[in-house]
Amino acid sequence: MSKHLLKLGGAGLLISVSAMAALAADTVAGKAPPDPPKFEAQQTPKFVTIGDIMEYKALAAYHEPDWVTQQFVATGKLPPVKDRLPKEPLVYKTSNMPDGVGVYGDVMRHVIGGRPQGWNYAAGQIQGWGGVDIGMFECLTRTGPLFEIKASALEPMPNLAKSWDWSPDGHVLTMHLIEGAKWSDGQPFTADDVMFYWDDNIKDPNVKPLNSAGPDSFGVGTTLEKVDDYTVKWTFKEAFPKQYLYTMAYGGFCPLPAHILKSQHPKYSKNTYDQYQNAFPPNFMDFPVMGAWVPVEYRPDDIIVMRRNPYYWKVDEKGNQLPYLDEMTYKLSTWADRDVQAVAGTGDFSNLEQAESYVEALKRSADPSAPARLAFGARTIGYSIYLNLSGNGWGEPDARAEAVRNLNRNLDFRLAVTSALDRQHLGESLVKGPFTAIYPGGLYAGTAFYDKASTVYYPFNVAVAKAELAKAGLKDTDGNGIVNFPADTPGVGGQDVSITLLADADYQTDKSLAEGVIASMEAIGLHVIENLVGGTNITGVQNSGKWDWQIFRNQSELISVVQNTANLAPTGPQTSWFHRAGKDGTVDLLPFEKDLVDVINKFIGETDAGKRVDLMKKYQKIYTENVYAVGLTQYPGALIINKRFANIPAGAPIFMFNWAEDNIFRERVFVPKDKQQNYELHPKTLPGAPGLGNGPVSG
Ligand code: GLA
Repeated sequence: MSKHLLKLGGAGLLISVSAMAALAADTVAGKAPPDPPKFEAQQTPKFVTIGDIMEYKALAAYHEPDWVTQQFVATGKLPPVKDRLPKEPLVYKTSNMPDGVGVYGDVMRHVIGGRPQGWNYAAGQIQGWGGVDIGMFECLTRTGPLFEIKASALEPMPNLAKSWDWSPDGHVLTMHLIEGAKWSDGQPFTADDVMFYWDDNIKDPNVKPLNSAGPDSFGVGTTLEKVDDYTVKWTFKEAFPKQYLYTMAYGGFCPLPAHILKSQHPKYSKNTYDQYQNAFPPNFMDFPVMGAWVPVEYRPDDIIVMRRNPYYWKVDEKGNQLPYLDEMTYKLSTWADRDVQAVAGTGDFSNLEQAESYVEALKRSADPSAPARLAFGARTIGYSIYLNLSGNGWGEPDARAEAVRNLNRNLDFRLAVTSALDRQHLGESLVKGPFTAIYPGGLYAGTAFYDKASTVYYPFNVAVAKAELAKAGLKDTDGNGIVNFPADTPGVGGQDVSITLLADADYQTDKSLAEGVIASMEAIGLHVIENLVGGTNITGVQNSGKWDWQIFRNQSELISVVQNTANLAPTGPQTSWFHRAGKDGTVDLLPFEKDLVDVINKFIGETDAGKRVDLMKKYQKIYTENVYAVGLTQYPGALIINKRFANIPAGAPIFMFNWAEDNIFRERVFVPKDKQQNYELHPKTLPGAPGLGNGPVSG
């Protein structure tokens, strides 16, 4: 064989080297992604078991801030603290508290970019994010702090559910709730609250709790029943689906007070679903919660103030009722301002996550006299483009949108999109340096279930991208630089292909990435139009299905895998972020999606660790090979926290199973007496009676 000729395959096809090079240039070829640049997390967690952190038990005596006893208990306004606590409170062990037992006082001043729509989390209202809802609503289980649990002992933490047992066949899970605990207004918390949340919110098709995809997040066909006031019983189609215990944590199952909500629900009143959703606007104060702080004041575009919950059901080993911090404030500003204020010391906390502000924040906090400390964690902030894969009418697409959905469902088209992206450049346009890494999509590099060999990465190659577009049937037939829909496309035949890209207007990173994507697509002849929507409305648009593509900051399932596992594929009609059922309730799965669903369902029912690892390798392969979603970039975030706070656990990531607002156990955080400031806006007050225009009371 001559030097210039290579023999390819068994067909005996002879082809010159230069012809092959030309072929190679335009042929899509996946390969393993490059290794991310080295970036060491600045602290490592102290790994423990859940039993090292907490237990439920009665203590000999309980304590509270003196002013509560004097102003409220001594005057008969509140029962003694021992009668406000459950039979066996949740007790945090001193040995797991980085700075030990704390003292009362002071406030954590948050700054957030979101705005509260109202307090009805059960009906999907946003409280403003940034830790507002995380601090108000407690869930059956808890996962935020799991970043510090030894891998061999990983399981969800008990919370409102203090224990659970499985039937021998693994289909029935009996959950025991904390006994004798009370909502912040003193009303008992019971299984009725849990049942109201399940029956009339999660399961009611007209209600969609915030963060929750729906009843199928707990397995299709799953049921829940009350056994007695403190016991509920789950029945699953699968055996031992322990995965759902993670879904019962923040986001998935955080009951709201039935004694307040029920009378407003359409099933029990003349209200419409809209009226139910809006029955508790932001100026409805002292909304009863199981969380450590209760909203007592709200000023639009200014601030939300929360005061300690006198019925909070967690204590330290000395019997001090938590939280230590008497107040939480949430300044209503912008997310970028959260970074600026935390670094400057006028705010106390930020998840540094918008890569555009890293250099400035790092520079300012390097000064030893800086008021805040800043610690980077692993690369757990990641973005993808989600292509709407529903060809079944979800979001009622018009002819153009329907034609785009059909393109989204075409592998050649997705290969064109992914190959058109210079991810290295995209990352560096956010921040230069070793922060960002090329992210092909799927599980993140550096996380527990990631496997590089199972990850298919399609490198940046404009010629390949164009060739793939042509294969998808798209040509620029009118010579204006934009490809056209094929002539036979219903309703839009021959028109320029135009695609909308939904992005969150409240985050600079989301906007920067959207712009980068638009420029990359223009280079291959795809006209992409930015649709910027503000934070309070974007969740609604995402859930409505009225979008072609969206820039999405990925959720915890792609990091932890075990959290919200059902969201990793369209395992039910509502579990996927970008492929949901149309009006007929079914999802039109593509063949590779059927494989993904199959792998995830197997994973949920699999208890063998080795088999679970293999299943996730398979998942990653199918996901990345088929460009299920188009990965963009992944990078580390940093926790910025004012230096006066104690009990911040080492190595707390800003995002893993949940956000840092959950991970750092804010109820255990305190400020030593000599560092306390006069920042409280309503000192020595407690929440008053729930109601419109009410507020804090001083006794
Ligand atoms: C927003 C912020 C995150 C985090 C979460 C908490 O999404 O961007 O950093 O604070 O709220 O819900």
